[in-house]
Amino acid sequence: MGLFYEKLVKPILFTQEPEVAHEVVCTILRWLSNAPLFCSLLAHYNQFSDHQDVEVFGLKFPNIVGLAAGMDKNAQFWPVMGALGFGFVEVGTVTYQRQEGNLRPRVFRYPEQKALVNRLGFNNEGAEIIAKRLEANSHQKRITPLGINIGKSKITPLKNATKDYLASFHLLADYADYFAINVSSPNTPGLRTLQEPDMLSVLLSTLREANLTRAKTRNIPPIPMLIKIAPDLSFSQIDSILEIVCEFKIDGIIAANTSIERPEIMTGINEAGGLSGEPIHKRSLEVISYIHRSTEGNLPIIGVGGITDIRTAEETITAGASLIQLYTGMIYKGPFLAKTIAKSLSSFP
Ligand SMILES: Cc1cc2nc3c(=O)[nH]c(=O)nc-3n(C[C@H](O)[C@H](O)[C@H](O)COP(=O)(O)O)c2cc1C
Repeated sequence: MGLFYEKLVKPILFTQEPEVAHEVVCTILRWLSNAPLFCSLLAHYNQFSDHQDVEVFGLKFPNIVGLAAGMDKNAQFWPVMGALGFGFVEVGTVTYQRQEGNLRPRVFRYPEQKALVNRLGFNNEGAEIIAKRLEANSHQKRITPLGINIGKSKITPLKNATKDYLASFHLLADYADYFAINVSSPNTPGLRTLQEPDMLSVLLSTLREANLTRAKTRNIPPIPMLIKIAPDLSFSQIDSILEIVCEFKIDGIIAANTSIERPEIMTGINEAGGLSGEPIHKRSLEVISYIHRSTEGNLPIIGVGGITDIRTAEETITAGASLIQLYTGMIYKGPFLAKTIAKSLSSFP
């Protein structure tokens, strides 16, 4: 199947501008997602039931390979991604306000490096519309856990960021198996400042409080909350984040987002935006192993960044990730990459 994609489908898709190709794929996936019977048949073929579910931060995952945020920004086709073999799907980033994102072109392919640069800028339909869509699908049985990644709306000033995240949290909480608090995308001006201790403490403590209050009122468990960080932080910045994560009992960390650094292999490539794919894998591993060591393995880590095959997936787990995610790898290797990796990992020690 991978060969079919690489030899036939990818060459056709790659004749198109990256975002046009993305839209074509999304249209097909949306169409497939609206056929629940087809999805369950596909899931039967692609999800492995010969091993036990994996439990991380209180949720059960059919396998540990997830779809990273950014592919299904508007929660339109996540059911079919589970049916294709992903063990969980993270939709978003969703912002409270609907927004168009930056001007096109804003996604760039680098096939030789198996990389992308994007400066999309959180283009999405906004939390209210996305919540309505999730409500309309809420009768469907979920094949995999659904993560909802939330970020700050561009027009909201940084000093009101907490209110903005909180509004998205309240609109989307009924549908999220976990929340990813995104403070690390490089394409929303100022967003990464939220990783600084003062701002992060206010943001995380407020969201946690809201989560606990909601749980108490409804007599249900709180929703697991994770923070997604940038790969470009220094270890001392990561230390400060980990202190806050421990203080406010955040359930886990997603390491990492796209990078604004350009490793040597990308010399001469100067499109602005976040780099993803193979060139960020090394840094992603460094960040994951640092967090794993610092927390003595007690904080669940979702490892993401440059997972393009079984080897890079195994390296990410060895570095300390309990779950992994990918996105760019799928663009180069096809939709069954998750299934291939999950199958191989089921026998990984
Ligand atoms: C086109 C594109 C859009 C993305 N959009 C988001 C986003 O909206 N929110 C987010 O948290 N991460 C986003 N990401 C980052 C990915 O979730 C992931 O952290 C990063 O790409 C590294 O993984 P990869 O090398 O497997 O792609 C995006 C990545 C790409 C390539």
